[in-house]
Amino acid sequence: MSKGLEGIVVADTSRSSVDGVNGVLIYHGYDILDLGENCSFEEVAYLLWYSKIPNGEELAAFHAELASQRELSAEMLAVMKGLPKGGHPVAVLRTIVSALSLEDADAENITIPEVQKKAIHLTAVIPTIIAAWQNIRNGREPIAPRTDLGHAANFVYMLTGEDPNPETVQAIDKYLILLADHGFNASTFSARVTTGTLADLYSAVTSAIGTLKGPSHGGATQAAMEQFLQAQKEGAEPWFNRVLGEGKRVMGIGHRVYKVEDPRAKILRPLAQKMANQTSEGYWFELAYDIEKLARNHEYFIERNLFPNVDYYGAPVLYMIGIPMDTFTSLFVMSRVVGWTAHVIEQLADNRLIRPRGNYVGPRGLKVEK
Ligand SMILES: CC(C)(COP(=O)(O)OP(=O)(O)OC[C@H]1O[C@@H](n2cnc3c(N)ncnc32)[C@H](O)[C@@H]1OP(=O)(O)O)[C@@H](O)C(=O)NCCC(=O)NCCS
Repeated sequence: MSKGLEGIVVADTSRSSVDGVNGVLIYHGYDILDLGENCSFEEVAYLLWYSKIPNGEELAAFHAELASQRELSAEMLAVMKGLPKGGHPVAVLRTIVSALSLEDADAENITIPEVQKKAIHLTAVIPTIIAAWQNIRNGREPIAPRTDLGHAANFVYMLTGEDPNPETVQAIDKYLILLADHGFNASTFSARVTTGTLADLYSAVTSAIGTLKGPSHGGATQAAMEQFLQAQKEGAEPWFNRVLGEGKRVMGIGHRVYKVEDPRAKILRPLAQKMANQTSEGYWFELAYDIEKLARNHEYFIERNLFPNVDYYGAPVLYMIGIPMDTFTSLFVMSRVVGWTAHVIEQLADNRLIRPRGNYVGPRGLKVEK
C-alpha cells in the first residue's frame, strides 16, 4: 500500500516532468525557466496541446481562435446573476463550467479532435467567467471580452474595465505559464480518473476544479496570503513561532514531489520583489521573505526538506496586482485548464479505467439482527 499514492507511477506522459530531486520542471522538453522568460501563455498552451512551440503564423491563428471563443452566452450570464452573491469564486467557476456542457449539443463527444476544440473553448471562456463573477457579485454588469487583446490582457480588461497596464499583464502571463501543468498533481489526476470512465470533458474539468479548490492544492495561495495578513499583525517571527508551536502548517511551503526548492518559486520570488519595488505595498514581499528565511534556518523545515512552493510567492504577486484573495485559485484554474485538458487528450489516446483498490480493515462476518 502507498498512502496518498506517493511514489506510484500510473501512466506514461509526455506533457510535463517534475524532477523533485533536482528541482526541475519541464513542459514537453522545455525548462519552465526558459518558457517563463521567453514565451507567452498562449505559446505554452499550444506547446502542451500540440507538442510544439508555434511559429508566427500558427500563433496568430491560435490567438484568433482563442479570442473568438471568449463570449459567455446571455443564458449563462443570467444563471450567474441568479447565484448567491457570497458564493466562492471557485465554486461559481466549477458550477458554470459544469453548466456549459448543457449548452453544448455535442458535449458527450470525446473524440480527440472534438475534445481539443472544447479544450480551447473552455480555456477561452474561463477568464470571462472569473471576471464576470467579480463584477456581478459587486453589483456591476459583466464587461464583454475584447478580441484585440491577448489572453492575460483581456482578462485584466474584463476585471477592471480599463486598458491593462503592461506590467500587470506581464506578471499575470508569467504566473499562468508557471501553473499550466505539473505532472500527475491531484487535480490533473482527478481529470484523468474522470476521463478514464469515458465521461465527457466538462465532467473531467469540473472534477479537476473541485480537486484544485482544497487548501492542500490550489487553495494554498489564498491560504498563504491570509497567513501573511495575520503575520503582518503579529510580526513575522512571533507569528512563525506561534504557528509552529501550535503544530500548524506554513501555507505555501512543502511539496509532495519537490524535496528542494520548487523551480516556480525561483521565478516568482524575484517577480514579487520587482513588483514590491513598484508599489506602495512592497512590504508583502519583505514579510514573505522574512518568513522564508525563518523557515530555511529552522531545524524542523531543514529536516523535512520543506521549501516555498509555487503558492508562496504567488500569493503576494497576485495580491499586489490587486486580485481579490478569494479569486487566487480561479487564476490557477485559468492556467491549469490547459494542463488538465492536455492530459485528458493523452488519457483518451491510450485509455484504461483507473481503479485502485483499498486495503479492507473493517470487520467481517457480521449478521443483521433485528
Ligand atoms: C503540500 C503538502 C500537502 C505535501 O504534503 P505531503 O507530501 O503529504 O507531506 P506530509 O503532509 O506527509 O508532510 C511531511 C512532514 O512535513 C510536515 N509539513 C509538510 N508541510 C508543512 C508545512 N507547510 N508547514 C509545516 N510542516 C509541514 C508535516 O507536518 C510532516 O511532518 P511529520 O513527518 O513530522 O509528520 C504539504 O507540504 C502542505 O500541507 N503544505 C502546505 C499547503 C501548501 O502549500 N500546498 C500547496 C502545494 S503546491
